[in-house]
Amino acid sequence: MVVALKTAGIRHAAQPDEHAFCDSKQVAAKLDCDAPILCFSPGALTERAQQFINGFSGEVAYAVKANPCPQVIEVLVQAGVRVFDVASTREMETVGRLCPDATLHYHNPVKSRSEIATAWHGYGCRRFAADCRDEIDKIAETVGSATGTEMAIRFRLPSHDASAHDFSSKFGTDEENAADLMKYAAQCGFSPLLTFHPGSQCTDPAAWARHIEAAGRIARCAGINLTRLNVGGGFPSSYSHSSGPALAAYFRAIADSVTSVFGDKSPILECEPGRSIAAPAFSLLTSVKLVRRHTADLFLNDGIYGGLLEVTQVNDLLPFYRVLRDGQPVAAADKHDFTVFGPTCDPLDVLPVPLHLPADIREFDIIEFAGVGAYGTATATSFNGYGSVSQVTVERAYTGDPDG
Ligand SMILES: Cc1ncc(COP(=O)(O)O)c(C=O)c1O
Repeated sequence: MVVALKTAGIRHAAQPDEHAFCDSKQVAAKLDCDAPILCFSPGALTERAQQFINGFSGEVAYAVKANPCPQVIEVLVQAGVRVFDVASTREMETVGRLCPDATLHYHNPVKSRSEIATAWHGYGCRRFAADCRDEIDKIAETVGSATGTEMAIRFRLPSHDASAHDFSSKFGTDEENAADLMKYAAQCGFSPLLTFHPGSQCTDPAAWARHIEAAGRIARCAGINLTRLNVGGGFPSSYSHSSGPALAAYFRAIADSVTSVFGDKSPILECEPGRSIAAPAFSLLTSVKLVRRHTADLFLNDGIYGGLLEVTQVNDLLPFYRVLRDGQPVAAADKHDFTVFGPTCDPLDVLPVPLHLPADIREFDIIEFAGVGAYGTATATSFNGYGSVSQVTVERAYTGDPDG
């Protein structure tokens, strides 16, 4: 059933036309799920991108790392996204091929000299990020003090645990040092701006307000009129134990605090969401290979080395899930907790929390996971020879509604 190979280890299942499937239930009923299948809804992706484009009072970039699948980039370009936060030159290549006039923000704060040179000469990148003097020096020595190159100083605040993934342990300089770095970047001939990331799946809009207040203090201390402020990614998606208010609440908190901190000298705002845009557009159909009923163990054809890695990193990111049989959701009164193992021989290949599943779940039943479009296939491995996933297009995405 699965034919035509495309990029990035993702295969495209036989599909007579772009909209052969109205939803993932139909996919489960019609396709062989021997290997896991990703159901991609371009409509859901477009809708989410437009919520950002229409609601955020600034420029919307897409953080490619969340899902670099070419179909995702193409749909986002059609939706109007022209700026991309790229973590590597490989991501630049992907974006450059699909959208030659895209603006690239190389916001990985640590880059090798050869990566910097490739970004500058090969892909026309004129925006770099740094969180220490050595990185600024490296960039200045590699590209020279050419005018028009922007240097985004990445700062951090102490964690408030509002996010599922705290990014401040790896990147960002403290508030006190950020002002010095802004001045230093300006001395080196760069146009300095500020950037932060409140942590991925950050559910509290006040986290952005706290960072924007700090950005105001940093710019004042540096004596620099801040012309641009990047408020990062971090906007949440919906998981079974983690979700936030509607996106409008984040956009309002950001706009309000920018006005109160900067008044009529407000910087141009940028955001660079990954998870919140890509996650809701995909679900993952996995098939039951074996149920060892006496121990309540269940074996799936995908797991933590495939599309479900994030579940092991943060329990809060357990996706919504349901069981499909013959393409229909199983509504069971009798449910049990099952330990769910992936397909590899590694005992670590197990979900960290049991799934509550129909007691009679059996071989060939499908467990569908919702909202896995971010950091799913992007982080999947081919460990033990697995990792191959086919992708089909659906009109409607499953987002957690059991009957959806
Ligand atoms: C610099 C930068 N921007 C944006 C993002 C996207 O974050 P999220 O997926 O939480 O929106 C990341 C994630 O790693 C990042 O490192």
